[in-house]
Amino acid sequence: MRMVDIISKKRNGDELNEQEIAFFIDGYTKGTIPDYQVSALLMAIYFNGMTEKETATLTQAMVDSGETIDLSKIEGHIVDKHSTGGVGDKITFITGPLVASVGVPVAKMSGRGLGHTGGTLDKLESISGFNIEMTKEEFIQNVNTNKLSVAGQTGNLAPADKKLYALRDVTATVDSIPLIAGSIMSKKLASGAASIVLDVKTGSGAFMKTLEESKELAREMVNIGNNLGRNTIGVISDMSQPLGYEVGNANEIKEAVEVLQGKKVDDLRRLGLELAAHMTVLAGAFSDYEQAYHNLEANLDNGKAFQAFRTFVKAQGGNIEMIDDLSKLPKAKYDVEVKAETDGYVSEIDAEAIGIAAMYLGAGRATKDDEIDHSVGVTLMKKIGDPVKAGEPLVVLHSQTENPEDSVAKVQHAYNITAEETAPIELIYEVIK
Ligand code: URA
Repeated sequence: MRMVDIISKKRNGDELNEQEIAFFIDGYTKGTIPDYQVSALLMAIYFNGMTEKETATLTQAMVDSGETIDLSKIEGHIVDKHSTGGVGDKITFITGPLVASVGVPVAKMSGRGLGHTGGTLDKLESISGFNIEMTKEEFIQNVNTNKLSVAGQTGNLAPADKKLYALRDVTATVDSIPLIAGSIMSKKLASGAASIVLDVKTGSGAFMKTLEESKELAREMVNIGNNLGRNTIGVISDMSQPLGYEVGNANEIKEAVEVLQGKKVDDLRRLGLELAAHMTVLAGAFSDYEQAYHNLEANLDNGKAFQAFRTFVKAQGGNIEMIDDLSKLPKAKYDVEVKAETDGYVSEIDAEAIGIAAMYLGAGRATKDDEIDHSVGVTLMKKIGDPVKAGEPLVVLHSQTENPEDSVAKVQHAYNITAEETAPIELIYEVIK
């Protein structure tokens, strides 16, 4: 087989077969096929797309390029959730304990963030002592005992994706829906869950900015999962403004804990329950969505979900006093208000700009070696649809400096205020099965 023939086949719009896809993934992973030929193939895929069969085959080949995690020693049906990322997304800290509170195991491998704010691991490390390094045996034991554990991604999962993603980044081929879907799903499938709930974000703070693109990505990922033997569903959720009110690290943990303690932060509570309900139905704990939602909501209100979070933090060495008394979480030196200049209603918030403002404060990484400051971040005081008067704070910046002017400028441009009242926005657009 020759790589040049595979490139010309795809360039002509024909479907690649299993052997051809395996040949290119295997050769690229081993270094026997050069970057320039793979770049040409990626561009041909970018323009001509891939069939459902090709996308599933590509994903499986990327899974097979490295290790897979064997979770068979965990008791029960393991269901994972993956979010395509956004600003203020602390939903894992709500869905994880909720699902665990009804006895369904959550075994989560997570990464660190490269971007506006930290990833799941960085946020958890706001809690002093919290440990994400553990052996596979400790991880499995933690899940079997407490039903919830979060560990740093270990091993060599989908190395073909790692190489391809880096190449796509420098060849303008990242924005291809089959390539994105295959990339995300290869890592999820290699992590070993039996069922997967995908939280696909849409809007200004999401990878996919339009609803149409988000639906297409969700459909592709759901098809891949189902074609490769995992029960998969996709929930399209709003990211046209940050989720909840807090963006950062320690402040996101604080907000998630408050929701677990019963605080009614509408979007967080609703999305947390919705995703957890789908997860527990896929795991077979409930017969239908309504029954699941009802039982999970009861566990949010009776404190069982909060207790599951406490148990999880304690088991991983986290300082539980910081959870019982949230004022003990790291705090920045200054609170700097950014005020509205006119009266009106908030019609738009550029979520990505809020994320960048948080990153300027030190809540995220611009390069992978940057250190995160867990104490800094942004608190939104107004969200879309809220009335506002000139002089009222739109946000509070939690900063280590007295005048964080770059973040202030970013936030000022992020808010749009109009004279007319704005209609509330949807939180959940569609569930794709
Ligand atoms: N995230 C991934 O893991 N892969 C992509 O291609 C895009 C986003």
